[in-house]
Amino acid sequence: MTQELKEIAQGLKAFLLNAEEDEIILKAALNQEKAAFNSMKTRANETADKNAGEVLRRETASAAQTAPIPAKEQEKSAEIMTQNTQKTETQISNAPADKAAEIAYIADMIKNCQRCDLGKTRIKAVPGEGNINAKIMFVGEGPGYEEDRQGRPFVGRAGQLLDKIIAAMGFSREEVFIANIVKCHPMVDPSNPDKRSNDRAPKSDEIAVCRRYLEQQIKTISPDYVVALGGVAAKTLISEVQPFGSVRGKIFDLKLSCVTLDKPVKILATFHPAALLRNPGWKKDAWENLKVLLADMGRKPASK
Ligand code: URA
Repeated sequence: MTQELKEIAQGLKAFLLNAEEDEIILKAALNQEKAAFNSMKTRANETADKNAGEVLRRETASAAQTAPIPAKEQEKSAEIMTQNTQKTETQISNAPADKAAEIAYIADMIKNCQRCDLGKTRIKAVPGEGNINAKIMFVGEGPGYEEDRQGRPFVGRAGQLLDKIIAAMGFSREEVFIANIVKCHPMVDPSNPDKRSNDRAPKSDEIAVCRRYLEQQIKTISPDYVVALGGVAAKTLISEVQPFGSVRGKIFDLKLSCVTLDKPVKILATFHPAALLRNPGWKKDAWENLKVLLADMGRKPASK
Protein backbone atom coordinates (compact mmCIF):
# COMPACT_ATOMS: atom_id res chain seq x y z
CA MET A 1 0.00 0.00 0.00
CA THR A 2 1.34 3.43 -0.81
CA GLN A 3 1.82 5.92 2.00
CA GLU A 4 -1.02 8.00 0.64
CA LEU A 5 -3.45 5.08 0.60
CA LYS A 6 -2.40 4.15 4.13
CA GLU A 7 -3.12 7.69 5.28
CA ILE A 8 -6.52 7.70 3.60
CA ALA A 9 -7.40 4.38 5.26
CA GLN A 10 -6.26 5.68 8.66
CA GLY A 11 -8.25 8.86 8.16
CA LEU A 12 -11.37 6.94 7.20
CA LYS A 13 -11.05 4.72 10.23
CA ALA A 14 -10.63 7.69 12.58
CA PHE A 15 -13.52 9.45 10.90
CA LEU A 16 -15.89 6.51 11.28
CA LEU A 17 -14.88 5.91 14.88
CA ASN A 18 -15.50 9.51 15.86
CA ALA A 19 -18.39 10.51 13.61
CA GLU A 20 -21.28 9.23 15.67
CA GLU A 21 -19.84 10.24 19.02
CA ASP A 22 -18.96 13.74 17.83
CA GLU A 23 -22.35 14.31 16.28
CA ILE A 24 -24.07 13.38 19.54
CA ILE A 25 -21.78 15.50 21.72
CA LEU A 26 -21.97 18.55 19.48
CA LYS A 27 -25.75 18.34 19.05
CA ALA A 28 -26.32 17.88 22.78
CA ALA A 29 -24.04 20.80 23.57
CA LEU A 30 -25.68 23.11 21.06
CA ASN A 31 -29.14 22.10 22.25
CA GLN A 32 -28.13 22.83 25.83
CA GLU A 33 -26.92 26.30 24.85
CA LYS A 34 -30.10 26.95 22.89
CA ALA A 35 -32.33 25.77 25.75
CA ALA A 36 -30.46 28.00 28.24
CA PHE A 37 -30.79 31.00 25.95
CA ASN A 38 -34.49 30.39 25.26
CA SER A 39 -35.33 29.99 28.92
CA MET A 40 -33.46 33.23 29.67
CA LYS A 41 -35.46 34.98 26.95
CA THR A 42 -38.74 33.58 28.30
CA ARG A 43 -37.85 34.66 31.84
CA ALA A 44 -36.99 38.15 30.60
CA ASN A 45 -40.29 38.38 28.71
CA GLU A 46 -42.23 37.10 31.72
CA THR A 47 -40.68 39.81 33.92
CA ALA A 48 -41.73 42.43 31.40
CA ASP A 49 -45.23 40.92 31.14
CA LYS A 50 -45.62 40.80 34.91
CA ASN A 51 -44.76 44.46 35.26
CA ALA A 52 -46.96 45.47 32.38
CA GLY A 53 -49.74 43.35 33.92
CA GLU A 54 -49.33 45.04 37.28
CA VAL A 55 -49.63 48.51 35.74
CA LEU A 56 -52.66 47.39 33.72
CA ARG A 57 -54.31 45.92 36.84
CA ARG A 58 -53.78 49.13 38.75
CA GLU A 59 -55.08 51.20 35.85
CA THR A 60 -58.15 49.02 35.48
CA ALA A 61 -58.78 49.09 39.22
CA SER A 62 -58.42 52.82 39.33
CA ALA A 63 -60.64 53.25 36.31
CA ALA A 64 -63.30 51.24 38.14
CA GLN A 65 -63.05 53.60 41.06
CA THR A 66 -64.22 56.97 40.14
CA ALA A 67 -61.31 58.61 41.86
CA PRO A 68 -58.40 59.20 39.41
CA ILE A 69 -54.96 57.76 40.26
CA PRO A 70 -52.91 60.41 41.94
CA ALA A 71 -50.45 61.96 39.48
CA LYS A 72 -47.51 60.89 41.66
CA GLU A 73 -48.57 57.24 41.55
CA GLN A 74 -49.07 57.42 37.80
CA GLU A 75 -45.59 58.83 37.42
CA LYS A 76 -44.17 56.05 39.60
CA SER A 77 -45.91 53.33 37.54
CA ALA A 78 -44.58 54.82 34.35
CA GLU A 79 -41.09 55.00 35.84
CA ILE A 80 -41.20 51.36 36.99
CA MET A 81 -42.42 50.25 33.60
CA THR A 82 -39.68 52.16 31.78
CA GLN A 83 -37.02 50.78 34.13
CA ASN A 84 -38.24 47.22 33.70
CA THR A 85 -38.47 47.49 29.95
CA GLN A 86 -34.91 48.81 29.84
CA LYS A 87 -33.74 46.02 32.15
CA THR A 88 -35.40 43.41 29.98
CA GLU A 89 -33.89 44.83 26.83
CA THR A 90 -30.43 44.87 28.40
CA GLN A 91 -30.90 41.28 29.58
CA ILE A 92 -31.83 40.19 26.08
CA SER A 93 -29.06 42.11 24.33
CA ASN A 94 -26.47 40.81 26.82
CA ALA A 95 -27.64 37.25 26.34
CA PRO A 96 -25.67 35.39 23.70
CA ALA A 97 -27.50 35.14 20.40
CA ASP A 98 -27.85 31.51 19.35
CA LYS A 99 -25.15 31.89 16.70
CA ALA A 100 -22.61 33.49 19.03
CA ALA A 101 -23.27 30.82 21.66
CA GLU A 102 -22.78 28.07 19.10
CA ILE A 103 -19.52 29.53 17.81
CA ALA A 104 -18.27 30.02 21.38
CA TYR A 105 -19.28 26.47 22.25
CA ILE A 106 -17.45 25.00 19.25
CA ALA A 107 -14.38 27.05 20.23
CA ASP A 108 -14.54 25.62 23.76
CA MET A 109 -14.78 22.09 22.38
CA ILE A 110 -11.74 22.74 20.19
CA LYS A 111 -9.73 24.14 23.12
CA ASN A 112 -10.47 20.98 25.12
CA CYS A 113 -10.04 18.58 22.21
CA GLN A 114 -7.69 15.61 22.55
CA ARG A 115 -8.96 13.59 19.60
CA CYS A 116 -5.60 13.36 17.90
CA ASP A 117 -1.94 13.69 18.85
CA LEU A 118 -1.82 17.37 17.84
CA GLY A 119 -3.72 18.07 21.06
CA LYS A 120 -0.81 16.72 23.10
CA THR A 121 1.80 19.08 21.71
CA ARG A 122 -0.11 22.26 20.91
CA ILE A 123 0.48 25.33 23.06
CA LYS A 124 -2.85 26.87 22.15
CA ALA A 125 -5.64 25.54 19.97
CA VAL A 126 -6.69 27.95 17.23
CA PRO A 127 -10.46 27.72 16.70
CA GLY A 128 -10.67 30.65 14.27
CA GLU A 129 -11.98 34.17 14.62
CA GLY A 130 -13.95 36.91 12.97
CA ASN A 131 -17.43 38.03 12.19
CA ILE A 132 -20.02 35.37 12.97
CA ASN A 133 -22.26 36.90 10.30
CA ALA A 134 -19.47 36.98 7.70
CA LYS A 135 -20.36 36.66 4.02
CA ILE A 136 -16.90 35.15 3.36
CA MET A 137 -14.87 32.62 5.33
CA PHE A 138 -11.18 32.08 4.61
CA VAL A 139 -9.91 28.61 5.43
CA GLY A 140 -6.21 27.83 5.73
CA GLU A 141 -4.37 24.62 6.44
CA GLY A 142 -3.52 24.70 10.13
CA PRO A 143 -1.87 26.93 12.74
CA GLY A 144 1.86 27.59 12.55
CA TYR A 145 4.42 28.62 15.18
CA GLU A 146 2.99 32.09 15.85
CA GLU A 147 -0.64 31.00 15.78
CA ASP A 148 0.16 28.21 18.27
CA ARG A 149 1.45 30.84 20.69
CA GLN A 150 -1.36 33.35 20.25
CA GLY A 151 -4.32 31.00 19.76
CA ARG A 152 -5.37 33.11 16.75
CA PRO A 153 -5.35 32.21 13.04
CA PHE A 154 -3.06 33.81 10.47
CA VAL A 155 -1.09 36.14 12.73
CA GLY A 156 2.38 35.42 11.32
CA ARG A 157 3.90 36.55 8.01
CA ALA A 158 1.34 34.64 5.95
CA GLY A 159 -1.36 36.31 8.03
CA GLN A 160 -0.03 39.77 7.21
CA LEU A 161 -0.27 38.93 3.54
CA LEU A 162 -3.77 37.52 4.03
CA ASP A 163 -4.81 40.81 5.68
CA LYS A 164 -3.58 42.65 2.57
CA ILE A 165 -5.47 40.27 0.29
CA ILE A 166 -8.66 40.75 2.31
CA ALA A 167 -8.23 44.54 2.17
CA ALA A 168 -7.60 44.47 -1.60
CA MET A 169 -10.86 42.55 -1.95
CA GLY A 170 -12.62 45.41 -0.21
CA PHE A 171 -13.13 43.80 3.19
CA SER A 172 -11.56 44.19 6.61
CA ARG A 173 -10.35 41.32 8.77
CA GLU A 174 -13.20 42.11 11.18
CA GLU A 175 -15.80 41.57 8.44
CA VAL A 176 -14.75 38.05 7.51
CA PHE A 177 -14.22 34.82 9.44
CA ILE A 178 -10.82 33.13 9.33
CA ALA A 179 -10.35 29.48 10.22
CA ASN A 180 -8.25 26.43 9.43
CA ILE A 181 -8.78 22.82 8.41
CA VAL A 182 -7.03 21.62 11.58
CA LYS A 183 -7.10 23.61 14.77
CA CYS A 184 -3.76 22.65 16.35
CA HIS A 185 -0.19 23.15 15.12
CA PRO A 186 1.12 20.18 13.12
CA MET A 187 4.87 19.89 13.75
CA VAL A 188 7.55 17.91 11.96
CA ASP A 189 9.29 17.43 15.30
CA PRO A 190 6.66 17.66 18.05
CA SER A 191 9.32 17.12 20.73
CA ASN A 192 10.74 20.53 19.87
CA PRO A 193 7.83 23.03 19.74
CA ASP A 194 10.16 26.02 20.06
CA LYS A 195 11.96 25.19 16.82
CA ARG A 196 11.18 27.50 13.89
CA SER A 197 10.34 26.06 10.45
CA ASN A 198 8.89 23.04 12.21
CA ASP A 199 5.54 23.20 10.43
CA ARG A 200 4.11 20.35 8.38
CA ALA A 201 0.86 19.69 6.55
CA PRO A 202 -1.82 17.93 8.60
CA LYS A 203 -2.23 14.17 8.05
CA SER A 204 -5.45 12.60 6.78
CA ASP A 205 -6.40 11.16 10.17
CA GLU A 206 -5.85 14.55 11.85
CA ILE A 207 -8.04 16.19 9.21
CA ALA A 208 -10.66 13.47 9.56
CA VAL A 209 -11.14 14.02 13.29
CA CYS A 210 -10.90 17.81 13.11
CA ARG A 211 -12.99 18.67 10.05
CA ARG A 212 -16.31 18.46 11.88
CA TYR A 213 -15.35 21.53 13.93
CA LEU A 214 -14.79 23.57 10.78
CA GLU A 215 -17.89 22.14 9.14
CA GLN A 216 -20.02 23.08 12.15
CA GLN A 217 -18.48 26.58 12.09
CA ILE A 218 -19.40 26.93 8.41
CA LYS A 219 -22.95 25.72 9.05
CA THR A 220 -23.43 28.09 11.98
CA ILE A 221 -21.86 31.16 10.35
CA SER A 222 -23.60 30.31 7.07
CA PRO A 223 -21.43 32.48 4.79
CA ASP A 224 -22.18 32.90 1.09
CA TYR A 225 -18.59 32.00 0.12
CA VAL A 226 -15.65 30.02 1.45
CA VAL A 227 -12.14 30.70 0.16
CA ALA A 228 -9.95 27.60 0.44
CA LEU A 229 -6.38 28.75 0.90
CA GLY A 230 -3.99 26.21 -0.59
CA GLY A 231 -3.99 22.58 -1.57
CA VAL A 232 -4.90 21.07 1.80
CA ALA A 233 -8.03 23.21 2.18
CA ALA A 234 -8.99 22.58 -1.46
CA LYS A 235 -8.48 18.83 -1.14
CA THR A 236 -10.52 18.70 2.07
CA LEU A 237 -13.38 20.97 1.00
CA ILE A 238 -13.56 20.63 -2.80
CA SER A 239 -12.15 17.38 -4.09
CA GLU A 240 -9.96 14.58 -2.76
CA VAL A 241 -9.11 13.52 -6.27
CA GLN A 242 -8.89 16.56 -8.53
CA PRO A 243 -5.47 18.20 -8.53
CA PHE A 244 -5.23 21.68 -6.97
CA GLY A 245 -4.34 23.17 -10.35
CA SER A 246 -7.62 22.06 -11.87
CA VAL A 247 -9.90 23.37 -9.10
CA ARG A 248 -8.06 26.64 -8.36
CA GLY A 249 -9.96 29.77 -9.42
CA LYS A 250 -13.26 27.97 -10.09
CA ILE A 251 -16.45 28.28 -8.11
CA PHE A 252 -18.01 25.08 -6.72
CA ASP A 253 -20.98 24.32 -4.49
CA LEU A 254 -19.62 23.44 -1.08
CA LYS A 255 -20.46 19.91 0.02
CA LEU A 256 -19.67 18.93 3.59
CA SER A 257 -19.31 15.45 5.03
CA CYS A 258 -20.29 15.83 8.68
CA VAL A 259 -23.09 18.38 8.67
CA THR A 260 -25.91 19.44 6.38
CA LEU A 261 -25.81 23.06 5.33
CA ASP A 262 -28.97 25.13 5.77
CA LYS A 263 -28.39 26.98 2.50
CA PRO A 264 -26.07 26.67 -0.53
CA VAL A 265 -22.54 27.97 0.04
CA LYS A 266 -20.03 28.50 -2.77
CA ILE A 267 -16.33 27.73 -2.53
CA LEU A 268 -13.29 28.87 -4.49
CA ALA A 269 -9.69 27.83 -3.98
CA THR A 270 -6.59 29.92 -4.46
CA PHE A 271 -2.94 29.81 -3.40
CA HIS A 272 -2.10 29.79 0.30
CA PRO A 273 -0.52 33.12 1.40
CA ALA A 274 2.58 31.21 2.60
CA ALA A 275 2.98 29.80 -0.91
CA LEU A 276 2.68 33.35 -2.29
CA LEU A 277 5.47 34.47 0.06
CA ARG A 278 7.67 31.70 -1.32
CA ASN A 279 6.58 32.33 -4.93
CA PRO A 280 5.71 36.03 -5.34
CA GLY A 281 5.20 35.39 -9.07
CA TRP A 282 1.97 33.52 -8.22
CA LYS A 283 0.35 36.61 -6.67
CA LYS A 284 -1.03 37.74 -10.03
CA ASP A 285 -2.77 34.37 -10.53
CA ALA A 286 -4.14 34.43 -6.99
CA TRP A 287 -5.57 37.87 -7.64
CA GLU A 288 -7.21 36.62 -10.86
CA ASN A 289 -8.79 33.78 -8.83
CA LEU A 290 -10.16 36.15 -6.22
CA LYS A 291 -11.55 38.46 -8.89
CA VAL A 292 -13.69 35.51 -10.07
CA LEU A 293 -15.19 35.35 -6.60
CA LEU A 294 -15.70 39.13 -6.37
CA ALA A 295 -17.43 39.13 -9.77
CA ASP A 296 -19.72 36.32 -8.58
CA MET A 297 -20.55 38.43 -5.53
CA GLY A 298 -21.26 41.40 -7.77
CA ARG A 299 -18.46 43.41 -6.12
CA LYS A 300 -15.57 45.41 -7.48
CA PRO A 301 -12.12 44.95 -5.90
CA ALA A 302 -10.96 47.78 -3.62
CA SER A 303 -7.56 47.91 -5.31
CA LYS A 304 -5.06 45.71 -7.04
N1 URA B 1 -1.10 29.02 7.86
C1 URA B 1 -2.34 28.48 7.95
O1 URA B 1 -2.74 27.67 7.15
N2 URA B 1 -3.10 28.87 8.94
C2 URA B 1 -2.74 29.77 9.84
O2 URA B 1 -3.53 30.09 10.73
C3 URA B 1 -1.45 30.33 9.71
C4 URA B 1 -0.66 29.94 8.72
